[in-house]
Amino acid sequence: DVGGRSELLGEARPGDRRPSKVAIVGAGAVGSTLAYACLLRGAAREVVLYDVNKEKVKAEALDIAHGIAFTPMGTVAGSDDIEICADADIVVVTAGAKQKPGQSRLELAGATIGIMRDLLPRVTAVAPSATYIMVANPVDVVTYAGLKISGLPENRFFGSGTVLDTSRLRYLVARECGVAVQNVHAYIAGEHGDSEIPLWSSAMVGAVPLLQWGFTADGRLLDEAVRARIAEEVVTSAYRIIEGKGATNYAVGLAVVRIIEAVLRDEQRVLSVSSLLEDYLEISDVCLSVPSIVGKDGVGRRLVPVVTPHERDGLRRSAESVRAVIREFGL
Ligand code: 2OP
Repeated sequence: DVGGRSELLGEARPGDRRPSKVAIVGAGAVGSTLAYACLLRGAAREVVLYDVNKEKVKAEALDIAHGIAFTPMGTVAGSDDIEICADADIVVVTAGAKQKPGQSRLELAGATIGIMRDLLPRVTAVAPSATYIMVANPVDVVTYAGLKISGLPENRFFGSGTVLDTSRLRYLVARECGVAVQNVHAYIAGEHGDSEIPLWSSAMVGAVPLLQWGFTADGRLLDEAVRARIAEEVVTSAYRIIEGKGATNYAVGLAVVRIIEAVLRDEQRVLSVSSLLEDYLEISDVCLSVPSIVGKDGVGRRLVPVVTPHERDGLRRSAESVRAVIREFGL
């Protein structure tokens, strides 16, 4: 029974959607962890890693491949030949300059933009209809530069932005409130970096606006001081992790798989990805994170939450600091 067999082997049958392919550029800590997370979650059938370091990329792919017996159906391969990315549905770019302890993300702009100028024409030549997700830092500047370099439509070319910072925020709020992190709906907007801002006015815990929550799980007033401490912790957590272990990789890997799943499964999920804004709270011509709907056509409608003048001004200031770097590079 051929039909039965192909089902057992997990092969595509006529009428099935083509198995999804995710290409990850850069086999460093972020790229390799992302490949691992993709396979663990069964997000894509085919995961490929591309890196200029042939030994490293092959070794990372082989190490992950040896675990495939324990994951949902999938394959993984690594190569230093860009052809491995051919016809990918999604291309994730993690290759960029590495942040040293104490260094800000914006300080990496020159080196990472240089890498993009070389890389993007080569990868878009082999994967012209993919959705592109930038992860390399400074992600907002890299996304803007990448859009200009690649000439791809803005809905199919965006950055992981503050999806990670948003999950850090939700984790911290959940702990203070003593509720599941899945029940916290709160967003970090703006630059994925020092000028980012929490959108407190629209934050909800279950059915209660966070600003009306009252007391923390251990009985303290959840006031402005507590919120300020949470915001500070979100902004500085990457610095602390980099001091301790040289890079961040696990949470960012999971955050980017979430974005990949939203696209491949056409989920219309609200995610704070970094995309080109046009007339968003009077912010235009800059890539920045705001809650946005993500599905098979990439990034769609940008949602405008209720904001205080303070939050709106914070977002505009964040846009200005990203734009200042963009200008520096004549983009
Ligand atoms: C992070 O936020 C360093 O951008 C990286 O973990």
